[in-house]
Amino acid sequence: MQINNDNEKAQDALMNKIRDIAEEVESKAAPEILKWGFKKYGDKMVLASSFGAEDVVLIDMMVKINRNLTRVFTLDTGRLNQETYDLIDKIRKKYGIKIDVYFPNANEVEEMVTNKGMNLMYESVENRKLCCNIRKVEPLKRALKQFDCWITGLRREQSVTRNKTKKIEVDTLNNNIIKLNPLAEWTNDEVWEYIHENKIPYNELHDRGYLSIGCEPCTRAVKKGEDPRAGRWWWEIDSHKECGLHWKEGK
Ligand code: ADX
Ligand code: SF4
Repeated sequence: MQINNDNEKAQDALMNKIRDIAEEVESKAAPEILKWGFKKYGDKMVLASSFGAEDVVLIDMMVKINRNLTRVFTLDTGRLNQETYDLIDKIRKKYGIKIDVYFPNANEVEEMVTNKGMNLMYESVENRKLCCNIRKVEPLKRALKQFDCWITGLRREQSVTRNKTKKIEVDTLNNNIIKLNPLAEWTNDEVWEYIHENKIPYNELHDRGYLSIGCEPCTRAVKKGEDPRAGRWWWEIDSHKECGLHWKEGK
């Protein structure tokens, strides 16, 4: 408890340091936030893209604002759906941009699956978190090392763990770099309106009931009215399901 309080205080102190820019960013709409980011960070700003609906919106906006400065990376866990790989190639071709692909450390994956099996994630929350840690969190840390600011497609509406997401945050688990969530206040309908209006390619799985798309073994379609993230790690009952990319210290 004490540790949580201390970490929360440390986060508050960091947010206080950037209070002026935080207020400015919080009042801006998504394209203005991206324009602001390009101006302030140039090519030291990067979008982390899983190629879900939010991320293709952000790629479209970034390219339209400044194609030369648009930097995008994706974490290929080795367990993504074929539909996701197809979309990555479509986006590369449509926008003519480079997408940096980060793989997990091969030795760590080899050791994990040799000792715990290929489908370890179904056996315990601990195993699932180990897999996310090796396949996603460590590569994310590696990817972010060269940047001063990262952009995500997080939205408040997505889950209880995200309902307080700010448009600008300090990422204390990644060297205190700035994290921008330009779509924080967008609704699902707004995301899809933008996609259709701008004719953006999207992951075909969305048409088959997948609202949120992660790795193939850990994602499934959801029924109408179900929670947007109900199809992620569906066998776990905890409503606070996260893979660790968006953890905050002490949380
Ligand atoms: S996750 O943490 O549960 O996997 P989610 O799929 O909702 O996250 O995506 C939220 C945001 O995290 C995305 O908009 C994107 O910015 C980032 N993200 C998630 N998965 C990846 C990935 N494989 N590669 C790069 N960024 C990702
Ligand atoms: Fe492993 Fe599933 Fe996490 Fe992907 S989402 S890294 S397969 S546990």
